[in-house]
Amino acid sequence: MAYTILSIETSCDETAVSLVSFKEHKDAVAFTIQGEALYSQAEKHAPYGGVYPTLAKREHRNNITPLILEVFNQAGVSLTKHTAQKNPIDIDDENLYNMLTLFLDYKKPECVDAIAVTYGPGLSPALWVGVNTARFLSSLWKVPLIPVNHMYGHIIIGLVKSAKIEYTKGSILALLVSGGHTELVLKEDEKWHIIGKTLDDALGESFDKVARMLDLPYPGGPCIEAYAKQAIEKGNTLSVQFPRPLIQTDSFDVSYSGLKTATRRYIEDTKDSIDIEKKEMIAREFQDAAIETILSKTKKALEKYSPHHFVVGGGVAANSFLRKSIETMSTIYPNTHFHFPEKKYTTDNALMIALAGWFLKEKTISPNDLIAEPHSTSYI
Ligand code: KG4
Ligand code: ZN
Repeated sequence: MAYTILSIETSCDETAVSLVSFKEHKDAVAFTIQGEALYSQAEKHAPYGGVYPTLAKREHRNNITPLILEVFNQAGVSLTKHTAQKNPIDIDDENLYNMLTLFLDYKKPECVDAIAVTYGPGLSPALWVGVNTARFLSSLWKVPLIPVNHMYGHIIIGLVKSAKIEYTKGSILALLVSGGHTELVLKEDEKWHIIGKTLDDALGESFDKVARMLDLPYPGGPCIEAYAKQAIEKGNTLSVQFPRPLIQTDSFDVSYSGLKTATRRYIEDTKDSIDIEKKEMIAREFQDAAIETILSKTKKALEKYSPHHFVVGGGVAANSFLRKSIETMSTIYPNTHFHFPEKKYTTDNALMIALAGWFLKEKTISPNDLIAEPHSTSYI
């Protein structure tokens, strides 16, 4: 019998919904995406050079209901009308409630066995839209509600191979690099520990900030990567090297503020001569320094812990330079299995929340008790 999860992700600037069916095998779980829909607000936030929380909230609110309907439509699930029900739960957001009331007229779609939702970490106003939607539907349809840590979703999606996730035994080291997080986390004896993190900016955030300094659009990561690629292809390098902060220390922590400041200073000092080729070289040098910094810590962790599995996740895992560097690194550690998420699923999506939901399906919560936790660090 298939088990089907409706999943919701609204932690940052992507509103995403998916409907995923799972079938358990002896050593793995296989899944089928019945429907998935994603609305990226990136263009709306571009003028601000970063995500504007109240705008994110409004956009999530306007899009979450149409996306849920779209996913049911893709899955061939037709909602059946029945006598309108009463509001099942208090939602402290009248505008969202007004959008959700349409579900009061419909029966629970038969296939939905559980609802998984990102409760944190992320932007509080954004998270609450997903959390409230999930609370509403879970209490209306009386289906279990599974809270999912967003970063755990970024880990799990990296372990997918041919629409299956093997039940891994042994330790896992994960490198999480996104717009809000830069962490090395280790799973040993069924427990997750953050062994290293950024002391200031996240890696993706520093890509976004440097892009802004170079007048490149938000999100900055893909742009910086494209500019750096040009410099690499042309064989152009800057005559100076930017710093690689904390690279010599024993800890697994990183810091990006010094690199960011050095990049800013360089841009200010050479303002008069910045043409497109100079921007490409700055992008290349910044990318080299930023990625070398995190990979030196990753190597250190691989050496110290010799994990059975290594997985990379988060928006910056889309970066080809990072992926290639890790692929090269993987040859040095033959006893560790290296995993990468499909590029499409490196940035925020709802499939990763459904997959994490499967692994957390025994840890349900009452819709009355679920709250958004913007700074949550408990992976499971
Ligand atoms: O995981 P994600 O979609 O959202 C958060 O949870 O933060 O990550 C978004 C971040 C942004 O900072 C974006 O600039 C960065 O991922 N990013 C990249 C690339 N694609 C997205 N950074 C470097 N290279 C890329 N190709
Ligand atoms: Zn993310």
